Amino acid sequence: MLLCSNCMGHRPRIQQRDGSCGKFPDGLALWPLRAHLHAEERHTGEKMAVSREDLLDTLRQVKTPSGGNLVSDDLVRALQIQGDSVKFVIEASDAALANQLAPVRDAAEKAVLGLPGIATASIVLTAPSGPAPKQEPPSLKVGRHPEPQAGGPAKIAGIDRIIAVASGKGGVGKSTVSSNLAVALAKEGRRVGLLDADIYGPSQPKMMGIQKRPSSPDGKTIIPLQSHGVTLMSIGFMVEPEKAVVWRGPMLMGALQQMLSQVQWGDLDVLIIDLPPGTGDVQLTLCQKAAVTGALIVSTPQDVALLDARKAIDMFSTLKTPVLGLIENMSTYVCPECGHEAHLFGHGGVRDEADRLGVPFLGELPLSLDVRLAGDAGQPIALGDGPMAEAYGHLARRLIGGGMS
Ligand SMILES: Nc1ncnc2c1ncn2[C@@H]1O[C@H](COP(=O)(O)OP(=O)(O)O)[C@@H](O)[C@H]1O
Ligand SMILES: [Mg+2]
Repeated sequence: MLLCSNCMGHRPRIQQRDGSCGKFPDGLALWPLRAHLHAEERHTGEKMAVSREDLLDTLRQVKTPSGGNLVSDDLVRALQIQGDSVKFVIEASDAALANQLAPVRDAAEKAVLGLPGIATASIVLTAPSGPAPKQEPPSLKVGRHPEPQAGGPAKIAGIDRIIAVASGKGGVGKSTVSSNLAVALAKEGRRVGLLDADIYGPSQPKMMGIQKRPSSPDGKTIIPLQSHGVTLMSIGFMVEPEKAVVWRGPMLMGALQQMLSQVQWGDLDVLIIDLPPGTGDVQLTLCQKAAVTGALIVSTPQDVALLDARKAIDMFSTLKTPVLGLIENMSTYVCPECGHEAHLFGHGGVRDEADRLGVPFLGELPLSLDVRLAGDAGQPIALGDGPMAEAYGHLARRLIGGGMS
């Protein structure tokens, strides 16, 4: 367990205005500052008009054709309340249900706008493109050799942009950043795909809360899964869980090519690719075969991680793939007991590196227990509306603003 060097984890304490740990008698409301307290107010400067629970209660009143309601049928995704505005996605399992839900969407909008203090409601009804997934086991031949492809990087039909999330070292938060960014972009109304291309440590099914495997009714194409408004496929679905993967480069490259060409991604504004760490075959194949819009590099501020991040940046520039920016993850640790801020892996190193290389610095993401717990629970923190979710929202809007997603 991580102990804060300031308060040594002793409750009850609370951070004082001067930054020191103050003591409070037992029983007082002792919520940690900074990371949690009135997150919405601090970030938007306004109070939330309704609570999440009020909103869910209202949506429970909105009946669906099944005889249930929007909440009991588990159709609501990416719920967001900001001041007087409410946004969420109604996710139907197929196009037929989506058609039936159109009047339900309208009813939900009316109900939400009827809530005191709510001025705008943005409710998007989505369904996966392509036929509804059948529950057949996938019959995917894995690790075949890549097919020769004429010419350089190709654009993938239906996919407007590809963003690769890369790092030099493993364990720095690539998958966490990928899943949260995917959710944050979906919350902004983008059609987002997420491809988990880390054959050695696929983590997106867990982080995105997916238990089933994709189906392949015809044995040729793969129907991806849907979670939190994001279309998801993992290269890990193609191997047996808990078996070590021993694939040679060409098999890996073939598998990646299958992921890009045989998965029915549908029309996407952006496909995020969560890469394995380092500068290996997957990165090379991806940038040589597919037109990658750009790469996001995730690093901790630690010297060893930065050293490897430099190699990844160098690889992308050799491959002529633009580096969209650097992200410093696990930047600071804010003690949940007293609010004291510690820099476990150093601080500012990634920003300095970005300055040195002349690439954008896209932000610092603190080390936060909530982020880890949310990832483990399959509910990325960006789904909520606290400060971490806002940090991802900011990153998503920055990419959209730059035309990158
Ligand atoms: N900002 C963060 N705060 C706390 N835990 C984090 C943070 N970012 C990542 N983690 C955790 O660190 C571990 C490694 O992260 P992961 O995203 O799997 O890294 P990578 O994909 O680079 O190997 C995971 O358990 C994840 O939940
Ligand atoms: Mg990973």
